Amino acid sequence: MRVILNWKNNMPFKSILLGSCLLLLTGCSPSGSGGEETKTVKDNGVVNIYSSRHYDTDLRLYSDFTERTGIKVNRIEAKSNALIERLKTEGELSPADLLVTVDAGVFWRAENEGILQPVSSDVLEAKIPAHLRHPDGLWYGLSKRARLIIYNKAAGRPEDVEDYDDMAAPNYKGKVCMRSSGNIYNISLLSSIISNAGEQAATDWAQSMVDNFARKPQSNDTGQIEAVASGICELSLVNSYYLARFAKSNDPEKQKIYSSIGVIFPNQDNRGTHINISGAAVTAHAPNKENAIAFMEYLTSEQAQKYFADGNNEYPVIDQIEATSALKSLGGFKEDKLNVGELGKNQAKAINIYNKVGWQ
Ligand SMILES: [Fe+2]
Repeated sequence: MRVILNWKNNMPFKSILLGSCLLLLTGCSPSGSGGEETKTVKDNGVVNIYSSRHYDTDLRLYSDFTERTGIKVNRIEAKSNALIERLKTEGELSPADLLVTVDAGVFWRAENEGILQPVSSDVLEAKIPAHLRHPDGLWYGLSKRARLIIYNKAAGRPEDVEDYDDMAAPNYKGKVCMRSSGNIYNISLLSSIISNAGEQAATDWAQSMVDNFARKPQSNDTGQIEAVASGICELSLVNSYYLARFAKSNDPEKQKIYSSIGVIFPNQDNRGTHINISGAAVTAHAPNKENAIAFMEYLTSEQAQKYFADGNNEYPVIDQIEATSALKSLGGFKEDKLNVGELGKNQAKAINIYNKVGWQ
């Protein structure tokens, strides 16, 4: 039997914890004494996952893993910040073994909160490229996304746009749409520019982008695609999986929007296109640590890579495994090999720069 807990209701914390202890059978103690009981029931045939993902293909991941290993998968879904807060609050009584979420910047926040532990695995280290995992094994990237420039095809491909820098050129004044600076994708992108080109260059880029805005920063990546398609602006930035979603959609309206969008993989003649990850991390007090590692290792198998990456139209982290046809239709590209862990380290600087230049 697979127990699925869905942590979307607003049960008071004590009730959630009690429920978790009883249902997940992890040995945490409702009375709060914790420690010893936890030790006696370690690795008791389950793995408890806190996940910010909610894709149908994930169900296949869980059932396939259970079939292969006999280890049952329990999961709780919530937004990443809520999961981080919950792990902090639960502390050493937490039943969670694994945090599954997106963006290296989020993993960096989790790392700073002290809710992760380093793990090593020959399988993970051999299969996952070094720039897509934490140098000390605090988290591992399991799929990746690229941040791409889009343009309206009606006017043709803008020949002077090859790099992120080119969107900030004066001839695009009033022609660029972007989402808000508080969005983690924008923070991570600016963090990569800080790492690659330095703080001054990053500040200049952010300032020039603000000067080029067609409208106040707003909406999500889908909103940027719609804005470029409708001619509100000429250029924007979106994650690759949003484009793949449009490409795969049977909705005629979405197909129409997608057919009017062109895609540029930025920085192909220099550092490569900015990428980020979805991934997993073993939690600091994981009661079933070995099962958590086994699950992560399973996620690097060919079948699981497909379920995991395809669930959100992402690229597998293992180069030999093919991406979905919707993604492949966007074209191949050279990616920035900066360790994605660097994106978190520059987060505070990036936020400061955005504030300084008035990117709302
Ligand atoms: Fe997204």
